[in-house]
Amino acid sequence: MKIIEAKNYEEMSRIASEKVQACIIENIQLNLGLATGSTPIGLYKHLISSNKKGDVSFRNVTTFNLDEYVKLSQTDPNSYRYFMNEELFNHVDIDKNNTHVPNGEATDLDQECLDYENKIREAGGIDLQILGIGANGHIGFNEPGTSFQSRTQIVKLDEQTREANSRFFDSMDDVPTHAITTGIGTIMDSKEIILLISGSAKKEAYERLINGEVSEEFPASVLQNHSNCIVIVDKESIS
Ligand code: GLP
Repeated sequence: MKIIEAKNYEEMSRIASEKVQACIIENIQLNLGLATGSTPIGLYKHLISSNKKGDVSFRNVTTFNLDEYVKLSQTDPNSYRYFMNEELFNHVDIDKNNTHVPNGEATDLDQECLDYENKIREAGGIDLQILGIGANGHIGFNEPGTSFQSRTQIVKLDEQTREANSRFFDSMDDVPTHAITTGIGTIMDSKEIILLISGSAKKEAYERLINGEVSEEFPASVLQNHSNCIVIVDKESIS
């Protein structure tokens, strides 16, 4: 795991964006794994502006998002499909047919999980995966205790995660209790990973990630075992 200490959120976002762009320029048919949450928004802004300037094109890029809430419609502003359209896809030259987010409204959710995992495999796997981290160390929606071998599955969200994400909903009751997430095994199969860490709420998670042991009780710790993982941390917000 390589650590890059960015001086602030802006620098973290810019470094990540340069890395993503370099990967797309090297492989225009990149399979890009994407994350939601506040942390990658700056990265997406940089990618949009580079796309508008003509520095990078998403025309042949395929994306796979990590996760989606169960039972939220894709048109619900809190759904991750809606988030991705608003924060990235609507503003770049990507073909929406090549953007994938698990369908939390599928009538057969177990089948949806199998299909999503197969779709990633059939595309040839994720070349570059962007990750954020939960304060409890979750990646995607893989909460503490999830097997490192896990594949795309339905998960029950930790109360801590629901509380953290309740800032986007009208009330705590509106926050979904379950989600579909690609598994830790799925994430670890990515050829390259960039983990972004920003915000004072992530201070302990960052310390545990770099100094703690590899344990299923702290899902992100698995990244210590990945051969090509870069952590870009916004030092200003963490210190
Ligand atoms: C959600 C997402 C994660 C994300 C996390 C942190 O739980 N499922 O993929 O990393 O939020 O979000 P934020 O960046 O807003 O702190």
